[in-house]
Amino acid sequence: PSTTDSIINPQQLLGSDLALLTENIRKLLGADHPVLKSVASYYFMGTGGKHIRPMLVLLVAQASALTTASSSRQVLSDSLIDKPVSPQCTIKFDPSTTASSSSASSILPTQRRLAEITEMIHTASLLHDDVIDASLTRRSKPSVNAEYGNKMAILAGDFLLSRASIALARLRNIEVVELLSTVISNLVEGEFMQLRNSAKAKDPSAGLNKTNAHDSLDTPAPESLVPTRRSYPLFSSNVATARFEYYLTKTYMKTASLIANSCRASAVLGGCNEVVAEAVYHYGKSLGLAFQVVDDMLDFTVTADEMGKPVNADIKLGIATAPVLYAAEEFPELDQAIERNFKHEGDDALALKLVHASQGISRTRALAAAYCAEAVDAISILPDSDAKRVLIQLTEAVLTRKT
Ligand code: FPP
Ligand code: MG
Ligand code: MG
Repeated sequence: PSTTDSIINPQQLLGSDLALLTENIRKLLGADHPVLKSVASYYFMGTGGKHIRPMLVLLVAQASALTTASSSRQVLSDSLIDKPVSPQCTIKFDPSTTASSSSASSILPTQRRLAEITEMIHTASLLHDDVIDASLTRRSKPSVNAEYGNKMAILAGDFLLSRASIALARLRNIEVVELLSTVISNLVEGEFMQLRNSAKAKDPSAGLNKTNAHDSLDTPAPESLVPTRRSYPLFSSNVATARFEYYLTKTYMKTASLIANSCRASAVLGGCNEVVAEAVYHYGKSLGLAFQVVDDMLDFTVTADEMGKPVNADIKLGIATAPVLYAAEEFPELDQAIERNFKHEGDDALALKLVHASQGISRTRALAAAYCAEAVDAISILPDSDAKRVLIQLTEAVLTRKT
C-alpha cells in the first residue's frame, strides 16, 4: 500500500467485538472464592494492555471472511458456546457474555470467543512470567505477584488457563483445540529454553536435537525461522549462527506461536480453506517474531517509565537477545560474557555499553523489518479490505512502536 492510504482505526473497525473484550473475559472468570476472582481479573480491570492478539484474531476473521462461501461458515449459536458438555461439568459462564456479533460485522461468535481465549492465555503466561522474572511492575502498576505474592499469582495463572481451556472446548472444534493446546505447550517450551539458556549455555545448539527431542505429541517448530525472501544480517561463525537460531526458536515458542496459531484458528473457525489458513498463520508467525525482536530491542532503548515495566531486564536476568548477539559479532569480547550469562561483575555494564557502541540495535531493527515485509507478503493472497489494510498497518506499527 502507498503511504497515501488513509489510516484506519482498528478500534473503530472492530467496534464492540473488541470494545467488550475485557468485560466479556471477566464474565468467564467467575470463581466461588472472591479473592481468586479478583486476582485472576486483575489485568482485565480498567485500561491497560494493547490487546494485540485478540485484535489480530478479529481482523483475520474479517479479512478472511471474504474468501469463504457463507454456507461453509458454521455459525455455532451463542447459547451453544456456553453449553456444558455434561451435567457433571458445572462451570456456567455468564450468558450475557455472548451478546450477538455487532450487526455490520462478519465476525462469528466463535471467533470473538477465540479472541477472548487468546488474551486469557497470554495473560496467564504474563502472571507466570513475572514470577519467573521476579518482576514487580507491569503496565505501569504493581504486577500481580507484587500485589498478591507468588503463590496466588501462579494459581491465578493456572485458573485463567483452565477457564480458557473450557471456553476453547466449547467451541466444539477439535482442530482449533489442537492449535491452541500447541500454543500453551510452546509457551512453556519457549520459557524453558530461555531458562535453560540462561542457566547453562555451554552448547547453544543442545536441546534443539531434532532426533531425540520430539515425541509423537510434538508439533515441530516451523522449519525456517529466518526471513526467507528478504536479506537480513547474517553471522560469520557457526557458533554465533547456532546461538542465534536458538534465540529465534525460543522467540517463536514464547511469542510468535500464540499469534500465528490463533490467526490460523480464526481462519479455521471462519471455514476458510488451507491456503488462507496457511497465509494468515505465516502472517502471524512473521509479525510475532518481529514483535518480540522489537520488544527485545526496546529493553535497551526505552526508559522504564515509558515501558511501564523494568528495562535492561534481559541482561540482568542473564539472557542474551538479538542486540547483544549482533553486538558480539563486532566485539568478540562479549562472547564469554554471553556464555556465562553475564554473571561476572561488570558483564552487564560491558554488554550495555557495547550494544550501544555497535550496530546491534540497527541490525535488530533490520531483522524486525525483514519479518514485517514477510508478513505483508504472506497475506497478499487475501482480497483487499479495510481489515487487510489494518493487518498491513500493524506491521508498520510494530516497527515504530516505543512501548
Ligand atoms: C514475556 O516475556 C513472557 C512470555 C512471552 C511467555 C511466558 C511463558 C511462561 C511463563 C510459560 C507459562 C505459560 C502459561 C500459558 C501459563 P518477557 O519476560 O521477555 O517479557 P516482559 O518484559 O513483558 O516480562
Ligand atoms: Mg518478563
Ligand atoms: Mg520472561
